[in-house]
Amino acid sequence: AMMGKGNYNHFMQKEIFEQPAVIGDTLHAFINPATRTIKLPDMPFSFNDVSRLTIVACGTSFYAGMVAKHWIERYAGLGVDIDIASEFRYRCPPLPKGGVALFLSQSGETLDTLAALRYAKSKGQKIVSIVNVAESTIARESDVVLLTYAGPEIGVASTKAFTTQLTVLACLAVTIGRDNGTLAKDEEAAIVNALTEVPKHAAEILHHDDEIRELAINIADARDVLYLGRGLGYPIAMEGALKLKEISYIHAEGYAAGEMKHGPIALIDQSVPIIVIAPSDELFEKTASNMQEAAARGGRVIFLSDAEGLAKLGDMASATVELPKVADFVAPILYTIPVQMLAYHVAVHKGTDVDQPRNLAKSVTVE
Ligand code: AGP
Repeated sequence: AMMGKGNYNHFMQKEIFEQPAVIGDTLHAFINPATRTIKLPDMPFSFNDVSRLTIVACGTSFYAGMVAKHWIERYAGLGVDIDIASEFRYRCPPLPKGGVALFLSQSGETLDTLAALRYAKSKGQKIVSIVNVAESTIARESDVVLLTYAGPEIGVASTKAFTTQLTVLACLAVTIGRDNGTLAKDEEAAIVNALTEVPKHAAEILHHDDEIRELAINIADARDVLYLGRGLGYPIAMEGALKLKEISYIHAEGYAAGEMKHGPIALIDQSVPIIVIAPSDELFEKTASNMQEAAARGGRVIFLSDAEGLAKLGDMASATVELPKVADFVAPILYTIPVQMLAYHVAVHKGTDVDQPRNLAKSVTVE
């Protein structure tokens, strides 16, 4: 059936605004609201026997994997190796005996990711995939398939697929941590509570649309844009930069905030907008000092934080977006939304083909 855009101007816009609903649908599939516990489909192995997890994906799906690495190492105590598929498949890395390899793909058809899956399978890994298309090739060739319930994603720039991947990955991290005894029952309940509130907070963030459209006007003539984040905010900085590049054709870089002084700080002058992803989490003070360094060199800082963070440092920014105060664990899911909206509005302002940007295909089935 032909999918319509409804009242939206672009599929990307529609898909951004669908996120509260599809994150909710994805949570419903995996959370038992009565017991506040997560229930994934049964797997033909136990994560207790897994010594190391390998995650492989491309593009935006790879950034979801970076968030998952942080969650799984931090909250489930399991070491994770992560790689982009086009590097992984030709490096032919040794893989641990009895290991599990996890593949992330919206389409389930990305050629490099599929080739990496086949390599991991040939090396005896159990194969888990998270896909948005149940009947896709990657799903068919996996031992375990976890679905995102994003619905069809039409815009080339991935939005709701990413936040629903994060939702499933959050459930997976909690499951591993619970099963191996790293995560106590009350910690699981606290994370489940925070996850349950994500759709509500996502809807609140969408109310900043007009404000973000205004900010976008000031970015549209930049030649370069820098996105900075730490910890769970680092992959979101990468994702924000990719979104901007692919639909607005502005050069952007996502950087770990602490790495800036090792090179990219040389780029900064008044013409470079710097988007800082800074929820008031345990790394806030560190990110804040990197932001101060950038501001001191004349950088135009756009500061994404919550009321607490803005009260401390909002004055130093040339613009701010106030996001809801949420548990550290779920912040990456929510901080994704304003960077999607920003890229969208910059692209609309520049008049590019938002849903079909030049040179890009929705599903990359060639090398
Ligand atoms: C995202 O906005 C991109 N269009 C692209 O990076 C995409 O995420 C990548 O090609 C992977 O696709 P997949 O999730 O379908 O495997």
